Amino acid sequence: MIRKAVFPAAGFGTRFLPATKASPKEMLPLVDKPLIQHGVDEAKASGIKDMIIVTGRGKNAIEDHFDVSFELEATLRKKGNDALLSVVREVTDDADFFYVRQNLPLGLGHAVLRAMDLVGREPFAVILSDDVIDAPVPVLRQMIDAYGKHGAGAVLAIQRVPREAVSRYGIIQGRRVARGVYEVTDMVEKPAPGKAPSDLAIIGRYILPPSIFRTLQATKPGAGGEIQLTDAIRSLIGRERVIGLVFDGKRYDAGTKLGFQMANIAFSLKDPEIGQGLRAFLKKEKLT
Ligand code: UTP
Repeated sequence: MIRKAVFPAAGFGTRFLPATKASPKEMLPLVDKPLIQHGVDEAKASGIKDMIIVTGRGKNAIEDHFDVSFELEATLRKKGNDALLSVVREVTDDADFFYVRQNLPLGLGHAVLRAMDLVGREPFAVILSDDVIDAPVPVLRQMIDAYGKHGAGAVLAIQRVPREAVSRYGIIQGRRVARGVYEVTDMVEKPAPGKAPSDLAIIGRYILPPSIFRTLQATKPGAGGEIQLTDAIRSLIGRERVIGLVFDGKRYDAGTKLGFQMANIAFSLKDPEIGQGLRAFLKKEKLT
């Protein structure tokens, strides 16, 4: 039903400078996988095959990562290192990768619009790979299930956030239609805590109808002179059924230094190879 996922990855990642001066933020590793691979793996596990990555200058490492490395594979094969060979192969297995450039970083909405020709006339998913979600069922899978079940035109991943944090997010106004499912009646980008219609924040996973492209084309630059995705989704309301799904999972904002470190610690502690060693280190050095 949803076959394509768009990964906007053309931003400058300024919050990680100088690390992101010459390498993409999306390639920062969470334990041993780049952030964007976590997103791609989530899409694959949700039944999606076509990965459309919106890139820009200095993002070549992303294309190289999702390409076959003949020399590396030949070397690992020669050494008989089958375990690493399969780790390397899994990166590109079961998916096709497509790229489009966003020549100017004119905002998330503009990045999604750049994928219009590659998406065509079908509903699609958008994944912001710096929102890392550790979930028992991949969040996109949860959203695709809700999309089918509730006859929605668009699905937004939402999460309750503390009232004092609402001004960092797009916040929905909605009517609860089932457990964890809200029919979105309006949304506000980064409201002041007193002005927020709820404490339900939009997180970086979306299922969108192809009509969003027409809306994006007509969307004027909003906050920060950028074409905002939330502004375009807002104008879908009324024409399409837009629902918000409170997903089951723990989300980390790996687009900030603190969130990125939290995600790394949480994922490392769960990692079968290094979890025990890290726990022992934290205890020994009284870091917990
Ligand atoms: P962010 O604002 O979190 O990413 O955008 P950024 O701009 O790279 O980071 P900072 O704020 O400078 O630290 C969310 C996602 O949207 C993409 C980014 O690459 C990121 O994955 N994006 C944003 C684009 O692809 N194009 C844009 O014009 C803006």
